[in-house]
Amino acid sequence: MDRNLALEFVRITEAAALASARWMGRGDEKSADKAAVDAMRKAFDSVRIDGTVVIGEGERDEAPMLFIGEKVGHKTDESPEVDIALDPLEGTTICAKGGVGAIAVIAVAERGCFLHAPDTYMDKIACGPGAAGAIDLDRTATENVHAVAKRLNKAVNDLTVVIMDRPRHTDLIAEVRKTGARIQLIGDGDVSAAVATGLEDSGIDLLMGIGGAPEGVISAAAMRCLGGDFQGRLKFRNEEEKARALKMGVKDLDKKYTMEEMAKGSVMFIATGVTDGPLLKGVKTRSGGIAKTQSIVMRSKSGTIRTVEAQHNLSLKPL
Ligand code: FBP
Repeated sequence: MDRNLALEFVRITEAAALASARWMGRGDEKSADKAAVDAMRKAFDSVRIDGTVVIGEGERDEAPMLFIGEKVGHKTDESPEVDIALDPLEGTTICAKGGVGAIAVIAVAERGCFLHAPDTYMDKIACGPGAAGAIDLDRTATENVHAVAKRLNKAVNDLTVVIMDRPRHTDLIAEVRKTGARIQLIGDGDVSAAVATGLEDSGIDLLMGIGGAPEGVISAAAMRCLGGDFQGRLKFRNEEEKARALKMGVKDLDKKYTMEEMAKGSVMFIATGVTDGPLLKGVKTRSGGIAKTQSIVMRSKSGTIRTVEAQHNLSLKPL
């Protein structure tokens, strides 16, 4: 994959972030999401790729745009064939409430390199490069906390673990509290939280718990670029979800996936902040129709992590 593509893709997440940020705090999740989807879909048209959405807004019959299987990009004879995992607004509730850490995000891989994860849940664990190899979903939360603390050469009570604030995590939270580790409970947005484990200044060491499976694949791509670690196991709520997974090509419903199994080969991860968060600053508007965005662009091949700050003149480039 041409490295210059990464900087083309940032325009796509910027467009989605700029559009959805207008809906920040307005209590309207649907409109915020639609604004992001419409803007992202349109922005794809200017990027010279032969792209296929493999993680998207849903299946064709449930999503009008950016559905799984949809072709995106401006296809020419030279366009590379790529698969796209995307979430135009990761954290719709965050955006609607004006909360912390909504992002617009895409991950890109060569054709066939992303796990085609069904829209179900996934049990996840993520850590940064300093603790890569020390985590294992098959171990208890206590064992993982101790292993990561040891690897990072930190006291357990200096470790910060992010967990989604959900009733399904009552036991997990109790167990982690018992270890003495500090916990940051988040309402939404476990992609940002996973990526934050890989950024030294985030103060976050470990992510644990169950979140969306599509978000898990996107997080796996990010952790590959960061040299961190990520594992996931699909979690099904009913037989219908299991059947859907089998239909999408999942062979072993109980499999523990490594990040390489979810996002293999050369991958890119691109995200733009919608609201301020641990990973990125949100969209800021200034007088004169100027808006500023902050994005992160990463490639697994080079390991380069680039922060892109952009100033947009919305009178010349209306949303
Ligand atoms: P959306 O962007 O679709 O709103 O997802 C937000 C999110 O918090 C994800 O980050 C997370 O993986 C998932 O939802 C958790 O699902 P649930 O809200 O059902 O616990």
